[in-house]
This record gives sequence, C-alpha cells and structure tokens, in this order.
Amino acid sequence: MDLRPPADAIAITGFMGTGKTTVARIVAERLGLDAVDTDELIEGEAGRSIPAIFAAHGEAHFRDLESAALARALSGGRVVIGTGGGMLLRAANLEALRRAGPIICLTASPDAILRRVGDDDSRPLLQVADPAGRIGELLAERRDAYAQADAHVDTTELTPEQAADEVVRLLAEDARAGWLTGARTAIPVALADARYAITVGRDVLDEVGALCPPREAGVRAALVTTDRIAPLLAERTTQALRAGGWEPHLMVVPDGEASKSLAVLGELYEQMAAAGLDRGSTVFALGGGVVGDLAGFAAATWMRGIGLVNLPTTLLAQVDSSIGGKTAIDLSAGKNLVGAFHQPVAVVSDVGVLATLPPEEMRSGLGEIIKHACCFDAEMFAFLEQRAGSALTDDAAALEYLVSRNCQIKAGVVAEDPHEQGVRAVLNYGHTVGHALERAAEGWSLRHGEVVGVGIVAESRLAAWLGVSDEETALRQERLVAAWGLPTRVSGIDEEAALSALARDKKIVSGRLRLPLVPEVGSFRIVADVSIDLLRRAVGSVLAQG
Ligand SMILES: NC(=O)c1ccc[n+]([C@@H]2O[C@H](COP(=O)([O-])OP(=O)(O)OC[C@H]3O[C@@H](n4cnc5c(N)ncnc54)[C@H](O)[C@@H]3O)[C@@H](O)[C@H]2O)c1
Repeated sequence: MDLRPPADAIAITGFMGTGKTTVARIVAERLGLDAVDTDELIEGEAGRSIPAIFAAHGEAHFRDLESAALARALSGGRVVIGTGGGMLLRAANLEALRRAGPIICLTASPDAILRRVGDDDSRPLLQVADPAGRIGELLAERRDAYAQADAHVDTTELTPEQAADEVVRLLAEDARAGWLTGARTAIPVALADARYAITVGRDVLDEVGALCPPREAGVRAALVTTDRIAPLLAERTTQALRAGGWEPHLMVVPDGEASKSLAVLGELYEQMAAAGLDRGSTVFALGGGVVGDLAGFAAATWMRGIGLVNLPTTLLAQVDSSIGGKTAIDLSAGKNLVGAFHQPVAVVSDVGVLATLPPEEMRSGLGEIIKHACCFDAEMFAFLEQRAGSALTDDAAALEYLVSRNCQIKAGVVAEDPHEQGVRAVLNYGHTVGHALERAAEGWSLRHGEVVGVGIVAESRLAAWLGVSDEETALRQERLVAAWGLPTRVSGIDEEAALSALARDKKIVSGRLRLPLVPEVGSFRIVADVSIDLLRRAVGSVLAQG
C-alpha cells in the first residue's frame, strides 16, 4: 500500500515552451493553492533577468541559484511549483521534488516549441544560429531527466486550460497517493448577470464564513437545514459562520421532499421575519436538493430576493442541483411547479460530509455524474469504468475530482444557457424517459438518480436504433450504469401509466420531440424529430414484468 502523505508541493516541469508557468498557475488556482515559479524567484532575488545572469555568470551559476530557489519554494506551505526547464538535471533537485510530491512533466513537439519560443530572446539557450537544431539537442540531453517525472502531459494540441485540466485529472487518478486530499478547487461560474465560485474540497465547510464573509460583522443570516442533517452539521456550520462574522439563525424544516411545499415555505418565511432578516441578509442552504430548492426559493422571494449560499451535502446536490440557479417548490398538481431562477452568490461543496450519506443517495448522485460523463467527458467515463463499484465515500481524492469536474461541466453549460433556452437541454439526457418513469412510480418512490440511470439505458438504446450511435456505445453506457449499482430495468411500474406520463411531456410537439442523444461516449447531439413511438419502445425496453 502506498502510504505517501499528502503532497507539500506539486511540481510542473518540462522543456521551455511547454507552458509550465501558465499551467502551474491555473492548476494552483483550481486547487486553491499558491503558485511559485522558480525562474521568477531567481529573477526577483538577483534583481536581473535570466539572460543577464547567464551572460554574466554562466549556466553552472544559474543552476546553483535554481537549487537555492527550489529550497525556498519548498519551505512554505502547500504550493504548485512551476520549475525552470533544467530543474530535473540535478539529481538533488529531483530528489527534493520527489519527497515533496508529484512531478508532472509537460511536453510538446519540437515544432510547437519552436513556434512558441523561437522569437523569444529571453531564452539564453536558444540564442544560436540554428534554434531548431539546438532544441533537438537539448531535448535529447534532457530525455532521461524528464523521464523521471511521475506523469507526462503532451501540450502540443492543448490550450493551457486544457493542459491544467489534464494535470488535475492525473493528480486525482492516483487517489492512493492522496495528492489532492486536503486541497481545494475553486471553479468560477461566469454568467451575464452573476459571477460566483464553487469551492470543492475536504473540510471546506469549516471555512464557509471566511469564504463568504458578510459585508460587515453581525449581518443576520438564515441557516436552513432539515431535522436529519441538523444533528450532523448544523453546529459545525454555525461556528464557521460566526467565525466569519455572520449572525446565523438556525431554521430546521422536516426532512424529505414533502418540505418543498407552500406550507413549509410559509413557516420558513415566518421564521425569517422573526429573525429580522433584511435585504442585506443571506440564506445558507445546508442540505441536499430539497433544502437547496426550498431555501433557494425563499431567498429568491424574500424582500424580492436576497443572497443565497448553497452548502450541498448530498452527491446529487454537489454535482447538480446546487449549480444553475433553479429553485422551486412542489404543488399537489406536480413537482417544481412554482419556482424562480436565483443564482447563488457562492457554493461550498465539502466532499467530507458525504461520509455519512447512505449508499442509495450516493448512487442517486452517480446517475447525474454518469450522465455528464456520457455527454461531455470520455476520460471521466473511463475513470468511472476503472473505479466501478468502489466505495467512493472512502476515497476523498476521487470524490474531489468527480465533484469538481462535474461542477465544471454543469457550470459551463449553465454559463452558455442560463435560462434553459438552448444547449442546457443536453442536461436532460436520460431524463425524458426518467421523468416518465418517476411520474408513473407510486408517490415518486424511485430516487431521482436511479431513474436517470434507467433513462440513460433507454435513451442510449434509442440512439442506436436511430443509427445516431453504434450498439457498443449503448452497451458501454448500460454496463456503466449497472456497474455502479443503478438499475438498468425497473419493475412495479405500470406500463400504461409510464407511457401516458411520457405523452404528457411538455417538450412533445405534434407527436415528436427534440432529444439530446450520445453518438459517442463523451459527446452529444440534439436530435430533432424523434418519434414518440420510438420513445415508447425505449420505455418498454426498460420495464421489467412484475
Ligand atoms: N434545482 C435543481 O437544479 C435540481 C436539480 C436536480 C434535483 N433537484 C431537486 O433535488 C431534490 C433531490 O435532492 P437530493 O437527492 O439531494 O435529496 P434530499 O435533499 O432529500 O436528500 C436526500 C437524503 O439525504 C439526507 N442527507 C443529506 N445530506 C446528508 C449527509 N451529508 N449525510 C447523511 N444524510 C444526508 C437528507 O436528509 C435526505 O434524507 C428533488 O427535490 C429534486 O427536485 C433540483
């Protein structure tokens, strides 16, 4: 077993022109760590540029300064270090970096390197008549040193953001090493009318007051949660809010979907009035999708809208419902009939709180994660295939990766289509069939993510029947749904009820509808004109008898 402690430093190294400095900065931002660049440290300390140091004292002197700069970089807290391209040439530097944590080496083709740095006269090693030839020689000289890195990322075809994504994914992949444990990722959400950050990590709930400070000390806040979650997390959250300067008032509603009601909303408004919440106050929604929807709607409507911070505590809420600004309550006539778009001012997702989540609630969140993987991310799909069935609650690094990646995906879609008028339809993959089954199931007895899993199976088959995908693509999705313990067939649902629920789908126009389908794992296509008959066949194919 690898008992390596969490990293003190993540090193991003590689040849000049591979993007080390920029990528290290983005990776640091994503992980909520500081970035240090050893070349910048050297220049700052010496008060002159690297070409000037080379010219005055030669390469050997520069390498001494580099080792000293590395020692300084490693003496602070946890950091992402962008190193100079020759850092690994000295065995002592390599050893020091190894002890501190993972070493990721960025690579690029010689042509790409030449394109990126050929005209750059701040590269002393390339001030020769034939820079292309020199690049080839240097790469050959350094091949063995670069081979010592733990992982390599070829950036030839990647933007710095894409390269940083790949680095974060690699770090998460070796979860045993605990490289990401204790780190936190900040995902920016940029909408036309709102900007906020989603903070993902372990124990970030204890920092919520500092992450979302009040405008001035003593501002009142509503901390809304349920009677099941309150004993687990209310005290801890209250303390964190107080430490940040808030005056929180705990408001506890009964656990469960039934609380998304006019009656409970009314009681919540009364408590908000009694607590003296004003227009400067903020609602902190601590719980799963139910609390997020209910408290979010209260925040959207209290005094025509006050601040909302989502503190999601279920996997489903962390990867889906806390992002996007949809809030709602149910009526007896149907779910989510009364609601509003109200973007949070911040989302803080502590993956540590998932430790107490029952397995069926973990599975429910996995339905949405698998949906995102099918439509957007073949690598995450492969990651889920490799880890199939493992106990995610014991694997903080894998959870950090999955939650942050899914937040990124959902935030990206929401930013493109904040009011659900276009591309956001893709988030309904698996949901057309899923919702029909949900409506036909007595009292919504199936968990949302479970029906999404079955919906993915049905809709992936439909894509294969239409020739949008091949059979293997549909089968891979079915295998993944099954591998995570989600049902691929459902029983106890009346076929007629399911089909008539399907026929009532708001999206059906003249017996046909537009449906997001998956042509290949990791991509989607909105297919217009899918016939309701084919959809009926798809529903029928996942209904088990009896
Ligand atoms: N607004 C949106 O965009 C959106 C998207 C999807 C779903 N939703 C809504 O979300 C709701 C479903 O959300 P959900 O699945 O999170 O259900 P939920 O909020 O009812 O939570 C499920 C159960 O888990 C318990 N729980 C929560 N956190 C826990 C923890 N850390 N440890 C132990 N137990 C914990 C809860 O007490 C509850 O019993 C539905 O009402 C659905 O309509 C909204």
